[in-house]
Amino acid sequence: MRAVPLTRKDLDLTDVKAIPVVLASLAVHGLINCAAYTDVEGAEENEDLATTINGAAVRAMAEWAADGDHPFLTFSTDYVFDGEASRPYTESSPTSPINAYGRSKREGELAALAAGALVARTSWLLSGSHPNFVATVIRTARERPINVVSDQVGSPSIADDVAATSLEAMGREVTGLLHVTNQGSASWFELAHRALLEAGMDPGLVTPCVSADYPTLARRPAYSVMASERFDECGLDSLPHWTESLSGVVAEISEEA
Ligand SMILES: NC(=O)c1ccc[n+]([C@@H]2O[C@H](COP(=O)([O-])OP(=O)(O)OC[C@H]3O[C@@H](n4cnc5c(N)ncnc54)[C@H](OP(=O)(O)O)[C@@H]3O)[C@@H](O)[C@H]2O)c1
Repeated sequence: MRAVPLTRKDLDLTDVKAIPVVLASLAVHGLINCAAYTDVEGAEENEDLATTINGAAVRAMAEWAADGDHPFLTFSTDYVFDGEASRPYTESSPTSPINAYGRSKREGELAALAAGALVARTSWLLSGSHPNFVATVIRTARERPINVVSDQVGSPSIADDVAATSLEAMGREVTGLLHVTNQGSASWFELAHRALLEAGMDPGLVTPCVSADYPTLARRPAYSVMASERFDECGLDSLPHWTESLSGVVAEISEEA
């Protein structure tokens, strides 16, 4: 099957009315939306823009897909949760976003679900080829020691693993909410520590600190570990533990440096 990649130049999602027109011109079988307004800090000051891209645009894509009976996959985030839990959030856990980005993504989730789409909720995405936390840690630690927060815990997830499982789910015609994260959990500090070890660097270059030391506009959930209660029912295999897949990510980052 051939994929038709679309960039902002081909379809600016702020132009919500253009979405069905552009999509109709492509004669595609299905639609995958990886685009989003992802600036968590920026969303606090630009919630309308975030809600247009993450909410209204997703609704337009989902409705176009439902009208034409096209399968539709869109991605969402652990930031729809408030972080007050102490056990992994599953698909049936109530949402309660504590920042503008989370609210905007929740709006998109609801619209996509109402139209019968597949919403793959993922978190803490890492990849060897796209800017992300691990790449930043390795690059920065080559120059100086760094402090990393140890009081936010989540599910580090490797983009290749998330993509493979999400596509597998789409191929199996799974719809509704699906949590797609690697196994295991970590704090940002633990993730940074492990990444430096994997890179053959001194893990002592990273020191734990607390979020209160680095005030931000947006609140972040303290605990956003996710697990799925749907994988068996959907015939899907669990993703590997994040530590298993991290080595490939670090190797790719190290090769590029
Ligand atoms: N990264 C994470 O840790 C994480 C965690 C949980 C969930 N997610 C979800 O996973 C998905 C992918 O995230 P990501 O980290 O890959 O995001 P990203 O790196 O920020 O990429 C977002 C993409 O969306 C495009 N985009 C933004 N505004 C647009 C617009 N108005 N019209 C068209 N395209 C637009 C951007 O295009 P430009 O390059 O032109 O700006 C960019 O290609 C999102 O749904 C996100 O909410 C990510």
